[in-house]
Amino acid sequence: MIIAANLKTNLTRIKTTKYINEVESFLKKNNISQEVLVFPATSSLNLHSGSVVVGAQNAYPTINGAFTGEIGYEQLEEFNIKTILIGHSERRHLLGEAQEKLVEKFNFYKNLGFKIIFCVGEPIEVREEGFESMMEYISKQYEGIDTLYENLVIAYEPVWAIGTGLTPTSEDIVAIHQELKKKSQAPLLYGGSVKVTNAAEVLALEGVDGILVGSAALYAEHFCTMCQYA
Ligand code: G3P
Repeated sequence: MIIAANLKTNLTRIKTTKYINEVESFLKKNNISQEVLVFPATSSLNLHSGSVVVGAQNAYPTINGAFTGEIGYEQLEEFNIKTILIGHSERRHLLGEAQEKLVEKFNFYKNLGFKIIFCVGEPIEVREEGFESMMEYISKQYEGIDTLYENLVIAYEPVWAIGTGLTPTSEDIVAIHQELKKKSQAPLLYGGSVKVTNAAEVLALEGVDGILVGSAALYAEHFCTMCQYA
């Protein structure tokens, strides 16, 4: 199982340091050997620890260069970051990242051997069109991605479930994951309003290889509990 926390633009470096230390000691104390990933804000990328893997929420497909506001491989390498999220819904929809750019990022970081958590998921209007339209939409998000890449992890996060408290039914998650598994054998995470009260149930579903948690993971205690469920 993979348990991942996407801290987005939350927590300062001081708070993230405390957070990672807390998670780290909880894992140690409870002998938890699941794969635990934390994606903090860029200012906390240098916070290395033992068993908690620190990853980047985004990076530009470049070693370095004139890309104002971005971070490149050189900066990630300095902090020994080898894990990256690509295609999160907030980057696709709020920041307008197109599939071509995501594919460029994917190829760039794949060639450098990074573990890539590639995110897919449909907005509500597509969801409302039915299962077929939804799968068609998600299939497009796989276009150009090497689905056989050995360091690939897919995260299915329905846009309408992110930060809303809404989740698909368990049956829906199983059905969608079953379809997505046909596209890639890579570990498949579910994300979107996972919290302490539903994490155990989600983790137990067929085809779910882990969770990617946003808001509920902001509290180390809650995130630790979810790690324990795994
Ligand atoms: O990447 C995790 C995410 O977008 C889900 O957010 O707040 O619904 O857990 P949240």
